[in-house]
Amino acid sequence: MTLPTSELSEFDSLASQLPPCDFTVFGGTGDLALRKILPALYQREREQHLDDATRVIGVSRTDFDDAGYRDLVAASLREHVPAADLDQAVVQRLLDRVHHLTLDAEDGEHWDQLHAVLKTAPRAEQTVRVFYLAVAPALFGPICERLQDIDVVDEASRVVMEKPIGTDLASARRINEAVGRVFTETQIFRIDHYLGKESVQNLLVTRFANTFLEPLWNSRWVDHVQITVAETLGVGERGGYYDGSGALRDMVQNHLLQLLCLVAMEPPTYVGRETVRDEKLKVLQALKPMQPADVDRDTVRGRYGSGLVDGAAVASYTDDLGHPGSSTETFVAIRAEVQNWRWAGVPFYLRTGKRMDRRVSEIVVVFKEPPHAMFPHSEGAVGPNRLHIQVQPDEGMKLHMTAKEPGPGGIRLRPVSLDLSYATTFTQRSPDAYERLIMDVVRGNPTLFMRRDEVEAAWTWVEPILQRWAESPDRRPKRYPAGTSGPTAAATLLERDGRHWQESDE
Ligand code: BG6
Repeated sequence: MTLPTSELSEFDSLASQLPPCDFTVFGGTGDLALRKILPALYQREREQHLDDATRVIGVSRTDFDDAGYRDLVAASLREHVPAADLDQAVVQRLLDRVHHLTLDAEDGEHWDQLHAVLKTAPRAEQTVRVFYLAVAPALFGPICERLQDIDVVDEASRVVMEKPIGTDLASARRINEAVGRVFTETQIFRIDHYLGKESVQNLLVTRFANTFLEPLWNSRWVDHVQITVAETLGVGERGGYYDGSGALRDMVQNHLLQLLCLVAMEPPTYVGRETVRDEKLKVLQALKPMQPADVDRDTVRGRYGSGLVDGAAVASYTDDLGHPGSSTETFVAIRAEVQNWRWAGVPFYLRTGKRMDRRVSEIVVVFKEPPHAMFPHSEGAVGPNRLHIQVQPDEGMKLHMTAKEPGPGGIRLRPVSLDLSYATTFTQRSPDAYERLIMDVVRGNPTLFMRRDEVEAAWTWVEPILQRWAESPDRRPKRYPAGTSGPTAAATLLERDGRHWQESDE
């Protein structure tokens, strides 16, 4: 098949040189910039993909000069880049590009300095301006307006927004509208960093570059799907943000629903700028809307108490937060359904939580039992076929099957697995999600970013859950001890349907 030229190289954007870029990071001294964005730029510098004329401009309220900011960036690279990848010459090359501007996004002063810096780009006419908003969403609209006022937004400019994009549908719309008054939709890059993960992109390839799965990938052969994103970390320093958000907004509305979309979507004609997003949108629109009774029956909210994680005693959520009255959830389990021809009647069980017994992000597709048990005494002896797609930490895939145990004296069945480990199959380094996504921004490739209609469709599905939870104040999150797999109600959610959560080491 011949692809439209505009769509070529959608999937090779790490491979070659980028155009010159002025990469302006609002929130330049923040956690995201120091932990993810600058280490990602370092790795691309290391691969020599940054053009000589590319500059990185950190913007923050801190009173730094370039030298002070470079010291901070150098320290953060030492902390967040793997020691084996750290090369002092490369660090210096990156630092030479780095500048800092002191500016309070909430007041009107010093914006002229940003104007002055951007207008002096070494190869101005070819330079792509990227404005990365690593700040609170309330500032997204105001920053975009200022950028317009100081006349630094042109057709080649792009804006990058991090989640959360709003806290509900109305606020998401307000943000999208405010940003949309300055940038066109093709210039707006909404990051869901899960889409930048190698193993998540591989999900598309596994489904659509192989033939054997597709005929089975439907309600005829699939019993149900489980999607788990479990973390051992608590809320740490992020309590202020997290308590106003909770696991449903922080994880389900974006990361888990995006994973669900990639599992459930129809094959696009080709992988292109809009085609994948069009198909994901259809999945979001097909999610069965939740009525209040569905929310009561099909959702579980939990919150971690004190407990043991990796052998160490950890505090409860409310102690971490210092606010005993909070009713925010740190765990959610949901039974969702995709109402379309392919998936009618197949439950999608989603769960995510903090301070759980292990860190794992995984999709499990559980197939139906064989229609007929033909081996004597085999009924119930082995489980159904399952495909475990492990997103992290050990990227890979396992297909659980049944085999004959070797030996004479009859047929004994035994569960076995076909095991694909990324680490042993591929020797090259797996780039961090942000490396991939940042390069896509500079290239203007939106395939792995959330389009406005996707974000709003996800909020549309999530909102009745939020509303129901809010109007039932007695339905406080159920406590689970830190270091466990969540509240018992989450297990009951599946047991009720005669199923159970598949843990990755089963
Ligand atoms: C972020 C959430 O989007 O994803 C965090 O805000 C969460 O609460 C994080 O910890 C998880 O990302 P990852 O890549 O570590 O699974």
